[in-house]
Amino acid sequence: MNITEIKQGIHYVGVNDRTTTRFEGLWSLPQGVSYNAYLVVGEKVALIDTVSEAFGSRLLHNIEEIIGDRAVDYLVINHMEPDHSGSISTLAMRYPQMQIVSNAKALQMVKGFYAVNTPTVEVKEGDTLDLGGKTLSFHMAPMVHWPETMVSWCAEEKTLFSGDAFGTFGALNGGITDSQVCPEMYWDEMRRYYSAIVGKYGAPVQKALQKVKGLSPETICPTHGPVWQREVATVMDIYDRLSRYEGEKGVVIAYGSMHGNTEEMAELTARYLAEEGVKNIRLHNLSYAEHSFVLSDIFRYDTLVVASPTYNGSLFPPVKHLLEMLAERNIPHRNFAFLGSFTWACASVRLMKEFAESMKWEPITAPVEMKQGISDAVRTECRRLAHEIAQRLA
Ligand code: FEO
Repeated sequence: MNITEIKQGIHYVGVNDRTTTRFEGLWSLPQGVSYNAYLVVGEKVALIDTVSEAFGSRLLHNIEEIIGDRAVDYLVINHMEPDHSGSISTLAMRYPQMQIVSNAKALQMVKGFYAVNTPTVEVKEGDTLDLGGKTLSFHMAPMVHWPETMVSWCAEEKTLFSGDAFGTFGALNGGITDSQVCPEMYWDEMRRYYSAIVGKYGAPVQKALQKVKGLSPETICPTHGPVWQREVATVMDIYDRLSRYEGEKGVVIAYGSMHGNTEEMAELTARYLAEEGVKNIRLHNLSYAEHSFVLSDIFRYDTLVVASPTYNGSLFPPVKHLLEMLAERNIPHRNFAFLGSFTWACASVRLMKEFAESMKWEPITAPVEMKQGISDAVRTECRRLAHEIAQRLA
């Protein structure tokens, strides 16, 4: 049995990347990542998306294993980010008669990135491509994750080729569909992928979800991670919650610390929260944590506590960076509290207050401000803050 045939005439031809250490040069990949491409085989053959440039020859090999000497007639481009478009030139050289099918924005990007002379077919919302026995239709999903993004739908097989939507970090470990893998392995990586890559685009994701729900797909083929069949409802629910920025009850404490004093405030606050009965508490030392893991927890939970020393009259740089990433992602609501420290002149508390105002987040309670080191007064303040947070979560 060849498990690369996901549905009759639909084949997985993607690749795993276990060598790139940082996706987009930013986000760590402890479990690798897959670049998924799919063949739809009717009387004509369509390839849906390609893979990163480094894996082009492996993609060709996977295609040839399925169709032998037959040609790829159409290359459908759902998304032009180079982790999917990087092998367009390789494909164009191997299949010179191939036509590239996509919308006007994507076709402009094909020219801009790859300057190939491949013939093109421009499609608009709802247009169809008859492959003989299989039909593809195209539906625009701008900003999920770039402006040219679209999804493709094979009505005969009730299969959606969803681009980055419903994707996850984590390479495929043999199995391709969710009944061939342990889907639980991917939920954390799906949240981390979403919050790092797509997190800014909640409203467009909501729009796309409505479109996708209207199609009632039985199979979802994303560009990263497993193919969803049994778990279609679960992945739709995860994307729905994330794109509505809806957090589960829980507290993320993200802190920076130069010499351990601010860290002690963060640890004390966590301990006092636990004494108040709060169980979902995640601490991140921002000098060491990779920001995608912190973002992922902030997308997951409804309460955020930030602690920062004053550094050069500003916030501690890793804290500043995190706040900038949160602002970029337009997170509309979080229960927010903050703690600041200083040695001779405090700026961190003022700057975190300004951050909260700019996000239109109403802080749960007054901040804790610590001069130099921990004291009984600071302990009492951390206990007050923890109590107020626990009350909010109750
Ligand atoms: Fe997987 Fe937006 O590229």
